[in-house]
Amino acid sequence: MVLQAAAPSESLMPLPAKMTLAEGRLAIGPDFGIAITGFSDDRLRAAAARLRVRIVHQTGLPLLPQFNAAPALTIACRGAGPAVPALGEDESYTLDVTAESARLSAPTVTGALRGMATFAQLVAPGPDGYAVPALHIEDSPRFAWRGLMIDAARHWMPVGVIERNLEAMAAVKLNVFHWHLSDDQGFRVESKVFPLLHQKGSDGLFYTQDQIRHIVAFARDRGIRVVPEFDIPGHTTAWLAAYPEIGSAPGPYKIERAWGIFEPVLDPTRDETYAFLGKLFAEIIPLFPDEYFHIGGDEVVDKQWKANSRIQEFGARNNLATGHDLQAYFNKRVLQLVTRNGRKMVGWDEILRPDLPTDIVVHSWRGQASLAEGASKGYRGILSYGYYLDHLRPAAVHYANDPLSGKAASLSAAESARILGGEACMWSEYVTAENVDSRIWPRTAAIAERLWSSRDVTDPASMYTRMRAVSLNLEATGIQHRAYTARNLERLSGGVRTAELAVLANAVEANRLDLLRRRRFTSRVPLNRLVDSVPPESESIRALEETARNAASSAAARAELRAMFTRWRDNDPVLRPVLQSSFLLREVAPISENLASAGAIGLAALGYIERGEKPFAGWLDAQKAALAEIEKPCAELTLAAPRPVRMLVELAASK
Ligand code: ACM
Repeated sequence: MVLQAAAPSESLMPLPAKMTLAEGRLAIGPDFGIAITGFSDDRLRAAAARLRVRIVHQTGLPLLPQFNAAPALTIACRGAGPAVPALGEDESYTLDVTAESARLSAPTVTGALRGMATFAQLVAPGPDGYAVPALHIEDSPRFAWRGLMIDAARHWMPVGVIERNLEAMAAVKLNVFHWHLSDDQGFRVESKVFPLLHQKGSDGLFYTQDQIRHIVAFARDRGIRVVPEFDIPGHTTAWLAAYPEIGSAPGPYKIERAWGIFEPVLDPTRDETYAFLGKLFAEIIPLFPDEYFHIGGDEVVDKQWKANSRIQEFGARNNLATGHDLQAYFNKRVLQLVTRNGRKMVGWDEILRPDLPTDIVVHSWRGQASLAEGASKGYRGILSYGYYLDHLRPAAVHYANDPLSGKAASLSAAESARILGGEACMWSEYVTAENVDSRIWPRTAAIAERLWSSRDVTDPASMYTRMRAVSLNLEATGIQHRAYTARNLERLSGGVRTAELAVLANAVEANRLDLLRRRRFTSRVPLNRLVDSVPPESESIRALEETARNAASSAAARAELRAMFTRWRDNDPVLRPVLQSSFLLREVAPISENLASAGAIGLAALGYIERGEKPFAGWLDAQKAALAEIEKPCAELTLAAPRPVRMLVELAASK
């Protein structure tokens, strides 16, 4: 079989704004070199060096500098652009590839970075070696704010996790890293002014100020803004474990170990609270050069405010009757502190109140409606509703979620322009530093495309083809979403029958609703089981569904299905002893049995189809009922195998 280079339309994600293909291919061999003409600086030279390393990882070519006789890629950059990545900076680029050479032109270094990300995705094996197809691309983003939020508070995310996710973000042209740095379960930044915050509020798991500066510089190198979030006035138990005096109830407080919405909340009525926040912000905000500072503001419980007579009297005196009024008052005073440090305020959509100035940014987690409401009142906004990775939804669901859909579809052009983009959100209740890559990727690539590519790029089949290509390609950036899965299967199996465990793992999907029902989770519950290493949608079952679509007409498709169904049927007897002997795997033994049943049903259906025989009366209903039964969630997993099997059962019965 000849390895074919994928067409660019099958390897690029996000798809460029404009692309025309030409004849021929530029060979990428050991003498591949990069030349920088025009403007150059450290950031651009470092990016070119990283591109070489990336190509080495993708191809195994020995790209030693001394081999670079004639550079194949010329980067012509016209200027630096902003010193620190900034909202709305020019990210455009043009890429021209011929059989002889490639030329990347960009007005800014950030534009050149985006073009290099495209170039890396185009390098693919062809009949005669690695090559990039000849083409012309003109590209720029649809939305200026394209983010990924990582929650480093609930489960600690070490520096290495952040670095490799930034690398992967750059590969799909995301440009905002929203760093959720404090919550009930942890305050994750070193404070020299209020050291108890990280000493008592983090279990010793916090970023030093040097590490913060390092990450900000690392992100800047990749054209990524860093927007820190310190969530106030709710979600502050870890703060209050250190400084109970700024709370609304006397305490004492302990770091929260469970997940949920909790009562501890800052006292919005005392000047001491604002003096504290003022000093803390003066220390912490300068660590983050971005123009925007996120104050959280979500899920404030007003129970402590209601129970505190002094706070109630303050409310009565100042015409602040409800918890919402008190929070609005709090936000106005916090806004002064943020502004004093030269930053614009961002907050979750609960902060939207008419008395805040319109240069704040509303971050919607509750729907396009609050985004649209904000935009119609003059506020800029970003969308995360529909982009929650922890909900474990298929990529297609996120992909179909356009920031300008729903209530936002009827906005005027001027109002729509206030919608800056969106952010994928990786809340970390159910992920650890170990498996977080595999929850973020590859689905975030689909969200990145939604935010970069033009609005009419919506075909899910094309998206899945390209997301798979990009998923494989992303591993060359150092992200470990696929490697982790393989590693965890070996850990689970102890190296015994790992291939058979992989057959099972490839046929199941993580099921969040079942997960939430099954166990009482806290930060002490290990996330080391099968559910924690399988994605919410199975790539191999998706491929099998494609094959099943051709079953009526293609003998090859039927042979492929037969091979897989046979494998499923015969997998369980071999795997069962391994499952039974491990406390980690015993819970999935029923699923393995169900997989065998799915295989047997599929083989029976194939038999009818191939014999051209009509199944007996009642067969279809019986098979459908059996498939529905084995599809029921178990061990926080859903067996996905029944989906292609059901297609065949229906085909068999339709004869
Ligand atoms: C949120 O999900 N509470 C922002």
